[in-house]
Amino acid sequence: MAFFSFFFSLGVLLCFSCVSAFSDGLLPNGNFEKAPSHSSLKGSVVIGKNSLPDWEIGGAVEYVKSGQKSGDLMLVIPEGFAAVRLGSDAFIRQRVSVNKGELYALTLSAARTCASDEKLNVTVSTDSIRDSGLISVQTIYNAKGWDSYAWAFLAESSEIGVFIGDPGQDEDPACGSVVDAVALKVLHPPKANRGNLLKNGDFEEGPYFLPNNLDGVLIPPNQIDRNSPLPGWTILSLKSVRYIDSPHFSVPEGRKAVELLAGKESIISQTATTVPKAYYVLTFLVGDANNTCKGSMAVEAYAGRGSLKVDYESKGLGGFKRAKLVFVALEKVTRFVFYSTFYMTRTDDLSSLCGPVIDDVRLVPLGKAKHH
Ligand SMILES: *[C@@H]1O[C@H](CO)[C@@H](O)[C@H](O)[C@H]1NC(C)=O
Ligand SMILES: *[C@@H]1O[C@H](CO)[C@@H](O)[C@H](O)[C@H]1NC(C)=O
Repeated sequence: MAFFSFFFSLGVLLCFSCVSAFSDGLLPNGNFEKAPSHSSLKGSVVIGKNSLPDWEIGGAVEYVKSGQKSGDLMLVIPEGFAAVRLGSDAFIRQRVSVNKGELYALTLSAARTCASDEKLNVTVSTDSIRDSGLISVQTIYNAKGWDSYAWAFLAESSEIGVFIGDPGQDEDPACGSVVDAVALKVLHPPKANRGNLLKNGDFEEGPYFLPNNLDGVLIPPNQIDRNSPLPGWTILSLKSVRYIDSPHFSVPEGRKAVELLAGKESIISQTATTVPKAYYVLTFLVGDANNTCKGSMAVEAYAGRGSLKVDYESKGLGGFKRAKLVFVALEKVTRFVFYSTFYMTRTDDLSSLCGPVIDDVRLVPLGKAKHH
């Protein structure tokens, strides 16, 4: 605890001038473009806990640049030219002013450097509370190596510590994840309304997209993150879903949607208040993201005891169709579940997981359903 209050008081000192709460985007030096001075670098290793501008570091933190070799990996860095590599047990952290009581999503761009599955410890803390999760940095989702991961937390105080660390499980000290960018966004959880009994059915509210990341943001399963970075929705399964945006993907409606990545291991779900014995209409869009995910796709939807399987033939070039399910509610609360029937991989690299896109999920009582 002494260590922790030290961190807190250090943060207060560092944060003397930052009175206003953080607004959406990269954290200060969140893409590590402000380099440590030459005198605080020994090779690529950063010496001194305050040598990386805007961050405090601990353990073996390396400052790596695009084009540099890291083990066998030639680093190509998506966000600007620099990143940090966290050796075993190493960490970076900084204090951020936020709005107390609001829900935030953190977006982190990271890659692993060794063959094994690597993990990153993401912890958000106040003086008394720590909210921590282990994010798996894997390449099953993206053969290019880099991916963005979202993690959500409730700001329990107006100043928080953001900590990203290596959990120290690597057998090889030369292994460790590379972190390229860290951003925050305030979430404004939408409410259900008369036009839609489901919350955030159009998926427009969600984590920050890093400007140079072409691959969307992975939303990890709920067992890793107890607050959802995708307000209203829960990821029930073992694997992530991908949150995609219209500048980089084909999105059926609005600017954002969700790609279901790994069959029944990638499930999104939400519950809604329903009236037992009343009829409801569930509608949604099923399509493909224009990301070379080709072939026969199917989305299975469950609403209480009602279910629907929507087939969609993907050429991998974008497009979508509408689906509709009329069902009788059995309970006062009905759970809605969506997943992809098949496991699919992108035809350009034959290894990155991909799948159908779902968007504009609406639930209305039957009498109120528009006929279109
Ligand atoms: C992550 O790091 C924090 C801060 O060092 C620690 O308290 C927490 O136990 C770690 N969490 C996990 C899951 O390893
Ligand atoms: C699919 O992507 C290609 C190339 O990026 C683009 O030219 C095309 O307009 C996109 N199609 C759709 C339906 O978004």
